[in-house]
Amino acid sequence: MTDTGAADPQTAIDAETAAGARERDPRIEARNAGDVGEGIPFIGAGPGDPGLLTVTGRELVEDADLVVHAGSLVNSDLLEEYCADAETVSSIGKDLEELVPLMRDAYEAGRDVVRLHSGDPAIYGAAVEQMDALEHEGVPTYIVPGVTSSFAAAATLRTQLTLNGVANHVAFTRPQGKTLVPEDDHIAEFVEMGDVTTCVYLGTHAVAETMDRLLDAGRDPDTPVTVVYHASWPDEDVIEGTIGTIGERVEAAGYRASALVVIGDAARKEGYERSYLYGDWANRGAGESGENDTANGEADD
Ligand SMILES: C[S@@+](CC[C@H](N)C(=O)[O-])C[C@H]1O[C@@H](n2cnc3c(N)ncnc32)[C@H](O)[C@@H]1O
Repeated sequence: MTDTGAADPQTAIDAETAAGARERDPRIEARNAGDVGEGIPFIGAGPGDPGLLTVTGRELVEDADLVVHAGSLVNSDLLEEYCADAETVSSIGKDLEELVPLMRDAYEAGRDVVRLHSGDPAIYGAAVEQMDALEHEGVPTYIVPGVTSSFAAAATLRTQLTLNGVANHVAFTRPQGKTLVPEDDHIAEFVEMGDVTTCVYLGTHAVAETMDRLLDAGRDPDTPVTVVYHASWPDEDVIEGTIGTIGERVEAAGYRASALVVIGDAARKEGYERSYLYGDWANRGAGESGENDTANGEADD
């Protein structure tokens, strides 16, 4: 990417933002999502359980000399299990101006550096700005995806986030707060749509306030809300309630962080119907592609 020689991360972000608008990034063609290569991988650590790190992620972490991780969001068991001999540094409390040179200098000194984000870096991560700043300084980077906490919560609840006859859509969202202004808080709109499973990240400390806003917006107080705390960790916990009751229950449990708030019937599997895939369509044979013979060649699996 454009190299102005400056070491200011904001300069890198500005340059990448402008470049992105111009043309397709050639690195997109050069690398598939599962490839491992030169540079610093930005790895999704998964929701917490060390077993939920991908095979590629694990291999990279095992080979690393320096692991920069997302502090308490990454289970320390995972660090102990896979990289006990590596230097580990928490990114909590460090700004880009500190993090980027830390990773760049280690990489340029020939050390294997990995950056571990919680869940998947694509969801409420701040990976891209670090990647752009590193690339701007000549350090290649790439992403290794992980299991986002919504998927772990669905596994805990033994359900699907999309469920035939119940939920056709999933919203990954967050409540208003320091980062999001009230006009950009769309939780009430997602809930109003009815067939959306709304997964609220970064809202554990404000469940009661979020529910009050939903009630003020006229949402049904009996709408199911399920809070999954620390999905896949040893102290995982599930609190069930409704828009009308869940705030009090989460406050009573004392959780202020690290939980996912799932709004909608899918969390309870209420009222779902069997899918076409294993019904009438099952007997119509597979097409040449081997995929189920639906009108558009795509079906649930
Ligand atoms: C900064 S965001 C990072 C999300 C992460 N990138 C992901 O894909 O899950 C942190 C929020 O993710 C959610 N979260 C992360 N790990 C979780 C877990 N194990 N169980 C439930 N929620 C979790 C919480 O809502 C927390 O406030």
